[in-house]
Amino acid sequence: MGFKEQIDITRLPEHIAIIMDGNGRWAKNQGKFRAFGHESGVLSVKDIVEGCVDIGIKYLTVYAFSTENWNRPVEEVNALMELLITTINQETETLTKNNIRLNAIGDIASLPQKCIEDLKSAMDKTANNTHCTLTLALSYSAKWEIIEAAKKLAVQVKAGKIDIDEINEAHFSAQLTTINMPDPELMIRTSGEHRISNFLLWQMAYTELYFTDTLWPDFRREDLFEAIVDYQKRERRFGKISEQLN
Ligand code: FPP
Repeated sequence: MGFKEQIDITRLPEHIAIIMDGNGRWAKNQGKFRAFGHESGVLSVKDIVEGCVDIGIKYLTVYAFSTENWNRPVEEVNALMELLITTINQETETLTKNNIRLNAIGDIASLPQKCIEDLKSAMDKTANNTHCTLTLALSYSAKWEIIEAAKKLAVQVKAGKIDIDEINEAHFSAQLTTINMPDPELMIRTSGEHRISNFLLWQMAYTELYFTDTLWPDFRREDLFEAIVDYQKRERRFGKISEQLN
């Protein structure tokens, strides 16, 4: 039996987050440039999005470019930005056909102008789609996001709109870029690295973490289904004891 058949569709994670890692090593293993690894990584993104739509995952968030990735060689940064623009433009129609909404989180203003414009256009075109929300984390870091949220709250307190003692988790969550999204129940990281790398730190407080040695360009929907099957075997206690759960 394949992994898809083993999935209990009544207990799907609503939101899956992915750190797509290993493009560079995958390319190097084949004697190719790193950019080739990123291009091949796009094929994995497409397959995983289709896999999510196929089984009914409502939110998929992929870490496409971190704040720290700006420190890579300028040629690689440029290649990634070009790839982003090409992919967004090529895929908007498919997203629309499949009722997928494109969303972006991160310091979008720091991206190249063309990227901002094409991203906004694709987001506008897909804004009313309801089957699945695909979020690209771009120029994103969780520490940046948390600081921005703290600043927004400080402004509200200063303006007398809220009292400091009123601030709670819901208030704080509402200032984050993931507003209106549930927290991810499952986070997958490829390529054998066991780190969170500044991704969704607030939102992943209770997320199940799944690590695989598979490099991102080799990751396909069957690997996604395997991760979901693994997730469904876990007991999510949220600080309680086993006997309290049922
Ligand atoms: C990590 O691999 C991957 C990235 C920093 C970029 C991910 C981007 C894509 C998959 C393509 C663009 C995506 C979209 C949605 C258009 P790495 O370069 O860190 O690999 P390494 O650890 O082996 O060097």
